[in-house]
Amino acid sequence: RKPVTITTIQSLYRKNEPITMITAHDFPSAHVADHAGMDMILVGDSLAMVALGMEDTSEVLMEEMLLHCKSVARATKGAFTVGDLPMGSYEVSPSQALESAIRMIKTGRMKAIKLEGGKEMAPTIAKITCAGIPVLAHIGLTPQRQNALGGFRVQGKSTASALKLLEDALAVQEAGAFAVVLEAVPAQVATLITKELGIPTIGIGAGNGCSGQVLVQVDMLGNFPPGRFLPRFVKRYGNVWDEAKRAIEQYRTEVKSREYPTMEHTYPITQEVFGEFEK
Ligand code: KIV
Ligand code: NA
Repeated sequence: RKPVTITTIQSLYRKNEPITMITAHDFPSAHVADHAGMDMILVGDSLAMVALGMEDTSEVLMEEMLLHCKSVARATKGAFTVGDLPMGSYEVSPSQALESAIRMIKTGRMKAIKLEGGKEMAPTIAKITCAGIPVLAHIGLTPQRQNALGGFRVQGKSTASALKLLEDALAVQEAGAFAVVLEAVPAQVATLITKELGIPTIGIGAGNGCSGQVLVQVDMLGNFPPGRFLPRFVKRYGNVWDEAKRAIEQYRTEVKSREYPTMEHTYPITQEVFGEFEK
């Protein structure tokens, strides 16, 4: 398929065709998302939890993000790739943010970057977009700011906070963001923001009125052990954990019972050669 570019995203938006986005954190997860026809692949800092086993996203380093971004870039032939700037790599100043964004493109081989924050990040977004690097903004529930938000909570539930979200969305648009992620925002609020904007909104837990949707791949695949908390917005489209566990258990059983490997999985040599060898 033809590689998705920023122009493709804009044309999907103009045609009112929903934009599809999913996270990936390594070569195989990007490979399958790309083959499935996703418009955009996000190397989210959620990889801290889903790939590195960290407690939250605040721990992941730029170097770690870059390693994963490179592997995703190698697998992605069609989708437009976006790399998340990790906490600590962009808040200090617009210059620090631009340096990090450049690393995301040059070393991480991403096509665009994502960063969290609204109006207060407008100068930063402007600085990065002016350098020719597309920026995906991210407002609403911003997980890197969970300590300031008091945890993972729905944003924009009061009139004042809904107005603040709209203000943030307009500010990041004005600053040059090519799209904005709305996370954990009531559907009516996200729909209204989408109508007010001239750039696409990418929803996660923001209802059906957004210009596109994004989900964390391991969540939507069901690739996690039973009992894990899942946010309300996650739809489980697969049972990858169960399937992988079943297969590994069967392998284990067959090794223990010597059912595996059979002749079909074994390399033969001629009896003649073996006879010589045996002597
Ligand atoms: O890190 C991530 O995966 C994200 C998406 C959930 C938007 O930021
Ligand atoms: Na993220």
